[in-house]
Amino acid sequence: MAATDLERFSNEEKRNLSLGGHVGFDSLPDQLVSKSVTQGFSFNILCVGETGIGKSTLMNTLFNTTFETEEASHYESAVRLRPRTYDLQESNVHLKLTIVDAVGFGDQINKDESYRPIVEYIDTQFENYLQEELKIRRSLFNYHDTRIHVCLYFITPTGHSLKSLDLVTMKKLDSKVNIIPIIAKADTISKSELHKFKIKIMSELVSNGVQIYQFPTDDEAVAEINSVMNAHLPFAVVGSTEEVKVGNKLVRARQYPWGVVQVENESHCDFVKLREMLIRVNMEDLREQTHTRHYELYRRCKLEEMGFKDTDPDSQPFSLQETYETKRKEFLGELQKKEEEMRQMFVNKVKETEAELKEKERELHEKFEHLKRIHQEEKRKVEEKRRELDEEMNAFNRRKVAVETLQSQSLQATSQQPLKKDKDKKN
Ligand code: GTP
Ligand code: MG
Repeated sequence: MAATDLERFSNEEKRNLSLGGHVGFDSLPDQLVSKSVTQGFSFNILCVGETGIGKSTLMNTLFNTTFETEEASHYESAVRLRPRTYDLQESNVHLKLTIVDAVGFGDQINKDESYRPIVEYIDTQFENYLQEELKIRRSLFNYHDTRIHVCLYFITPTGHSLKSLDLVTMKKLDSKVNIIPIIAKADTISKSELHKFKIKIMSELVSNGVQIYQFPTDDEAVAEINSVMNAHLPFAVVGSTEEVKVGNKLVRARQYPWGVVQVENESHCDFVKLREMLIRVNMEDLREQTHTRHYELYRRCKLEEMGFKDTDPDSQPFSLQETYETKRKEFLGELQKKEEEMRQMFVNKVKETEAELKEKERELHEKFEHLKRIHQEEKRKVEEKRRELDEEMNAFNRRKVAVETLQSQSLQATSQQPLKKDKDKKN
């Protein structure tokens, strides 16, 4: 279709046509529902709160099951994120539920870095999803989405105000995840104190610019209940897996010497409100917000960081090809620079080694010369000694010959003397 045709077509008013008979596309929503049900859903909850604040108990109470009873120690050197995934089924709906625990939160002496592992964990899940999206062969259809859909932030029921750790952590997380703040162990705080505490928390969150999740009020069907519930935030909850007999019914409650706190009694705590809002009314909105708001923000920042833009400086659509080429050139340039640096480093290293070797050779040579001189000196001395000894030996030999001559002469002389005496006697 030519451009002018397109323009004319888009300027034309839409015509409403009535169908002659039933075609069947009104079943589209049902098709979607049935497809989603077959596919199953995933929902990921992050629990952030001090050790022993009641995170596991609340999760067990929320889903009416026993996920875990394991206790964390208070001696973790850093905060550690521990995800656990469970396959749940209610009627014919399958839910892959992941509960991520921030183990060791609030236990370190220096809590400056406590938020970091949590932020890193959330970002890693976004990154995994982005990598899957960027793959040539994507399989988002059966991809196990691990992005965190909601962060339940457990506030200690002090009755005073939020701790700085709470404010810092929530501030760092609010652009990455839907935060629902809850006051844990609300049975340990009196009704009037709780009322004041809630007001105090909300005013502190507002004055510190912490954006918590607001139940959506744009859908008429849930607008009323959601706006009422927004006014009840933060929910004050009580968790228990214990069953106590109240009247003739067994209910989940906490039994005290002075009475029973019923988990599902709305005049005792906000547990039911939390369950309604989190699971029954807004679970899909939490999933949607995660995708359209938090993940979108992460994706945008990440792609911009990688050099991608929607428009170039002249407001022209940015070409992916050009971005790729520019990045490729940048990368190749950097690679060449690095290669050159490496080569230079290698040459320097070789030169250094060469100089070292030469120095060693010179030292060895000097040593050799020195030893040679010593050896020659020794040799000269030995020769001298030998010459002296030879002379001594010659002198000795000469003396020996002389002595021997003398001896033989004297022997001759003594042998001739008796003969002469005999002659004399005869005469
Ligand atoms: P870690 O996983 O070890 O960090 O603890 P946690 O936050 O999961 O706490 P957990 O649910 O194990 O509960 C710790 C203790 O608090 C247990 O003795 C629970 O019975 C108790 N507890 C849990 N919820 C509540 C509550 O709403 N009120 C009161 N008073 N106690 C609670
Ligand atoms: Mg626990």
